[in-house]
Amino acid sequence: MNHQCLFGSPIRLRWDAGSEWQLVRAIVASMPDGATLRKRAATMWRFAEALPVPHPGALSMGEGMTPLVVAPGRSAAFKVDYLMPTGSFKDRGTVVLIAAALQAGARRVVADSSGNAGTAIAAYAARARIGCEVYVPAATSSAKLSQLAAYGATVREVAGSREQTAAAAAEAASDPGVFYASHVYNPFFFHGTKTYVLELWEQCGGRLPATLVLPVGNGTLLLGVYLGCRELLAQDLMPRLVAVQASACAPLARAWADGSAHPAEVAGLDTIAEGVAIARPVRGAQILAAIAATQGTVVSVSDEQILGAYRDLAAAGLYVEPTSAVCWAALLAGLVDLEPDSAHERVVLPLCGSGLKTKPYFDGAVS
Ligand SMILES: Cc1ncc(COP(=O)(O)O)c(C=O)c1O
Repeated sequence: MNHQCLFGSPIRLRWDAGSEWQLVRAIVASMPDGATLRKRAATMWRFAEALPVPHPGALSMGEGMTPLVVAPGRSAAFKVDYLMPTGSFKDRGTVVLIAAALQAGARRVVADSSGNAGTAIAAYAARARIGCEVYVPAATSSAKLSQLAAYGATVREVAGSREQTAAAAAEAASDPGVFYASHVYNPFFFHGTKTYVLELWEQCGGRLPATLVLPVGNGTLLLGVYLGCRELLAQDLMPRLVAVQASACAPLARAWADGSAHPAEVAGLDTIAEGVAIARPVRGAQILAAIAATQGTVVSVSDEQILGAYRDLAAAGLYVEPTSAVCWAALLAGLVDLEPDSAHERVVLPLCGSGLKTKPYFDGAVS
């Protein structure tokens, strides 16, 4: 039941029709028109024609169709993906992944995660009434650990790096009857995250913004977005993808600066942006290729800039986890081109994870 590529390189997400997975196809011709879409429920399942599994019934918690909110003082908008059932964008990929696991007859799933993917997988496994074991690095925030426990998952803390955590999960997943619910290796996850861009396409009136700024660790959102753009638009008018990493752990930004097609070797220092602290992204070369194909770029921001952006967002009523502030930090630092006369929503960035999921970074003065 495990992925054939579990111990090797990840399955190549192929962008062309006729791939061995038969999952990638030009969908624009089969996309419902505006009038049809308006009659459908405001969830990501309104794009059923583009998804590789049918609506999973009660497994769905109405995930997706998150709002666009204009960013304060800039020609940009936030897509507020932390308003999801488990508080992060990972629900998009997870609901598709668990639906696929159920189709495959899984009774138990094993996953590894720095937090948000694990909590999403635990929640959807609970709804599916199947067993769930999540391997997390020992440094995972206590709020995410409590959330995992609340969903009834067995949590295995691994004293080591994110890579060691993944290796421990992969080993556990080799037991018979266990489905390795990997959000990084399994292509079904990316077909879920692509709904981010399908929703944007609808919300922007059947077109896409010129620039999409995205946080990148393992690239599950960025590659899903790229997949969605390719399926929607074929080669035409691709939005520029600007990937943002934390400077303390920036293998892709370093590779980009060096003109390399493969992630750079980095030490992977601690950062408050725990969700993007991935020193060795297994799909790194694919991420770099996708960004290059859109004439995009990869930038990085310091923890000080991330903290400033996190506070700035909270001052605008948007309480996110620090990882979710990296894109806004890049905008504030002038690392993303904003055309001076551009209309709102020419640049869109996601707010991926709720601030309730990490330790507080504010010294609360209660009077
Ligand atoms: C809140 C948040 N934003 C961004 C990311 C980065 O996603 P990815 O590792 O898929 O690039 C994560 C990953 O866990 C996350 O939790």
